[in-house]
Amino acid sequence: MRRLVVGNWKMNGMAADLGALGPVLEAAGAPGAAEAAICPPATLIAALAARVAGRIGVGGQDCHAAAKGAHTGEISAPMLIDAGATLVILGHSERRRDRGEDDAAIGAKIAAAQGAGLRVILCVGETEVERDAGRTGDVVSGQFRAALAAAVAVDPARFDLAYEPVWAIGTGRVPAMEDIAAVHAQLGREIAAAFGVAGQGVRILYGGSVTAANAAAIFAVAGVGGALVGGASLKPAEFAAIIRAA
Ligand code: PGA
Repeated sequence: MRRLVVGNWKMNGMAADLGALGPVLEAAGAPGAAEAAICPPATLIAALAARVAGRIGVGGQDCHAAAKGAHTGEISAPMLIDAGATLVILGHSERRRDRGEDDAAIGAKIAAAQGAGLRVILCVGETEVERDAGRTGDVVSGQFRAALAAAVAVDPARFDLAYEPVWAIGTGRVPAMEDIAAVHAQLGREIAAAFGVAGQGVRILYGGSVTAANAAAIFAVAGVGGALVGGASLKPAEFAAIIRAA
């Protein structure tokens, strides 16, 4: 299946940065290229969508579970669509940590996002303490199952998963390739159990300190269907190299 490479700009990026995306658009436009997308801060979604004109996807980094209402500072899934987004990252560990998002809240957001027509990338991953305790498998399966249960009905045709070990995010540390393979295999079994044959198109992205230097090795791991890229996605030439590696 076609790999998906998503750049998560987090709380970075100004309008002036959109002019530097030439290398990214070029890499994404090459024959047989992987699917690419950027999730900028919400302030840039409309401008990025206009700039890329469908050549890469544009997404949000979160959405509210309600379509509109008295929720100061929040952004809804229909608003993301209105701004030109086609996908949204949900359940990122920084939001679980900083905003106290739990699996139930994330599930409600999945339902809202898909209801509005967005593709969802659900993030799961263990902390270093959980990993050291040998609980990685339980944690990622637990997060996946709980979010899906809370979402009630998930359309696998508009759903991808991202395995992001929390301790690997922004640290320059990456799991051993066999550890990535093991977690992706387990999540593949979870997807099969949840969706049956309809889940065959669901991609499992790896995220956490992906760079141009390690991308090829990570994409060579069985079960890796793409990458969710933070820091390296802020550098257009490096992000372009990761898209090419995919
Ligand atoms: P990183 O972030 O690539 O900077 O480690 C990945 C992410 O948080 O999605």
